[in-house]
Parts: sequence; C-alpha cells; structure tokens
Amino acid sequence: MTEAAPPVPIEAYDQLATMVALADAGGRCLLANAALEGAVGLSRRALQRGSVLDWLVDPTQLRETLQMVAADQVTTSRFDAQVKRLGAGDGEVPVHVIVCQTDWPGCVLVEMIEIEQQIRLDREERSHGLVEANKELVRNLAHEIKNPLGGIRGAAQLLAMEVSSRELTEYTRVIIHEADRLQTLVDRLLAPHRRAQVVADINIHEVCERVRSLILAEFPRGLVVMRDYDTSIPEFRGDREQLIQAVLNVVHNATQALGERIAAGDARIVLRTRVVRQVTFGRQRFRLALELHVEDNGPGVPEAIRDRIFHPLVSGRDGGSGLGLTLAQTFVQQHRGTIDCDSVAGRTVFRILIPLP
Ligand SMILES: Nc1ncnc2c1ncn2[C@@H]1O[C@H](COP(=O)(O)OP(=O)(O)OP(=O)(O)O)[C@@H](O)[C@H]1O
Ligand SMILES: [Mg+2]
Repeated sequence: MTEAAPPVPIEAYDQLATMVALADAGGRCLLANAALEGAVGLSRRALQRGSVLDWLVDPTQLRETLQMVAADQVTTSRFDAQVKRLGAGDGEVPVHVIVCQTDWPGCVLVEMIEIEQQIRLDREERSHGLVEANKELVRNLAHEIKNPLGGIRGAAQLLAMEVSSRELTEYTRVIIHEADRLQTLVDRLLAPHRRAQVVADINIHEVCERVRSLILAEFPRGLVVMRDYDTSIPEFRGDREQLIQAVLNVVHNATQALGERIAAGDARIVLRTRVVRQVTFGRQRFRLALELHVEDNGPGVPEAIRDRIFHPLVSGRDGGSGLGLTLAQTFVQQHRGTIDCDSVAGRTVFRILIPLP
C-alpha cells in the first residue's frame, strides 16, 4: 500500500480560516493546519503525532465516517461534533465536520467549521466589552463636563445682567442656551446611574400598554400600534420605570423612522410578547425568558451604523443624540436581559429578552 503523504504544501492550508486535517482511514493525522492548532490548542507537531479521533469529545461518528470514506462507500459526509480544547483553556468548540475523499489513496480530508452560533456568541461578547468600555468612557466624560458647565452658565447669567447692549445679551443667551442643551445631554448620560433600581412585580403587558398609550397620544393619526401578546407570561421582579423607558426609547425610534409612513397613514408598529424556553444569551442558559418584539414597517436602520446603534452617541438622524438605545440596553441589562436588532427595509425588529423566574 502506498504511504499516504500530504499532497499539498502545508502553507496552502494555513491560509484557511476553517480547520483542516488530512488523516488516514484509521484516523492517524498526516497534516493539520494553523486554524486547527489554534482551536485544539496544541502545536502542529503534537497534532501530527496523534490521531484526529483524539480531538473530538465523541469520536465514534468520525471513526466510522473515515473508514467509510476511505473504503469508497461514500465520497463525502457531514455531521456536527465537539472539538476538545486540549491546550491552554478548556471547554469544547462545536463544529460542523465535513469528511471527504482526496485523490490520494488512503488519505481523507477532514474539515471542521466552527458552528455559526459560537462565532456569533464570541462576536457578541467582544462587542459587549466594547460597548461597556465606551459607556464608561462617556460616563466619565459626562462627569468631567458637568461641573464646569454649571460655572459657565452662572457666569453667562451674571454677564447678561451687566451688559445692556442687545447684541451682547444675544451672545450670553446663546451661551446659556447651549449650556442647557449640554446639561440635558450630560444628565441623560448619567441617568441610569443616578437612581437605584426600584424593584417590584412586573407585568410586561402593563409596560407595553403604558408605552402604547404614550405613543398613541403623541401620534393619534397615521400610526397603528398592534398588540400580539402572550398573556400567559408570568410576572417577574424588575424596575417598572426603567423598563417603560427602555421600551419607550425603542418605540420612539420606530416612530421617528416611520415619519413618512405616518404622514401617508400606513405606519405600523407591532408589540409582540412570547415565552421562550431554554435560551442562551451571553454565556448563560435560562430555562424561561420573555421575548418582546418591537417591529415596525419603516425604512430600516441605516446600513452604515447598523452594528453600532447600541453604542453611545451613535445616531443616524438629524438632531439625534444617540443615547436612546444605549439607555434602553443599560436598563435591559440591569434585568439580566439582552436587546438586539434585525433590520431590513420595511421590517425592523428590536428584540428584548429578559429571563423569567
Ligand atoms: N426602528 C428603527 N428604524 C430605523 N432606524 C432606527 C430605528 N431605531 C433606531 N434607529 C437608528 O439608530 C439610531 C440610534 O438610535 P438612538 O435611540 O440610540 O439615538 P437617537 O434616536 O438618534 O437619539 P436619542 O434617542 O438619544 O434622541 C437612530 O438615530 C436611527 O438612525
Ligand atoms: Mg432614539
């Protein structure tokens, strides 16, 4: 029998983001690429001394598949598995495994792709860290701005009393006006940390109804706010005002995006609640959670800011301060929940998930 040998220079495999190994029918590793080294956490040398079967939590399926592929019974086969992290750091990486024949006798290609969810989770975690860092930066900045701002405003007021020329009082008026505007911004930036949580039993539909009536009072015509409630959702402990504010900010954005449709008379927002079971968010798994969708039929979140809308001071509209969603996210997170967004033209959905007892 011919001795199987790596048919392609190893560098070619190292360019790939997916994990690739060549193995013989018995699982002996002939070649492992850089992505695989990274995932398993062992050096290429160590990997190539061992067996591909050693890397999976349950190698049964891989063992059978390798034999079948090598014996020409099938040309390719796919299944899901868990790769063990053998080096530093432990745990498992869920992967999609593709085993296929090569042109070299006795040599089988094993390709492993990290499962989407895992990648998404990592991305979420990274983005979460970034958002938290941003929020802290902005918060510290707000603190720094707050004190001198009072001084500037006071001095401008004193000055206004001293000067009599209309032209000059116009200047002091501008200073006072702008100082007030900045003060409002700073207050909003510091808002979530000003008041301690007031915890009570919350019925999510009470929260939705409150928001709905506030919005309908503001837009009595041209907008329908539909409800699609799952009334079996149990109460949970939380801060009612915070949750109302969070949902209101999201719904408010929807109404702003819906401007044209409101004018045309066919704007629609849907408030939808559901119970979801066995959900994982962050790294935590919850037995039960409530899901609140705020859906609108507006033009969608501008592409350019789509992945940053929860960051502070990111706005896609004139006159927006870019704080509404940051605050909404902070409030939801204070309920151990998450908020995300899925948007295409004509259908934007903000999804709030909050764990239930
Ligand atoms: N439902 C939506 N449809 C389209 N775009 C949206 C929607 N919700 C949010 N956005 C976009 O996300 C941006 C950020 O929203 P956010 O509420 O954080 O800030 P803002 O509305 O600009 O200002 P603020 O809420 O502080 O007054 C918005 O400016 C808008 O461009
Ligand atoms: Mg807003």
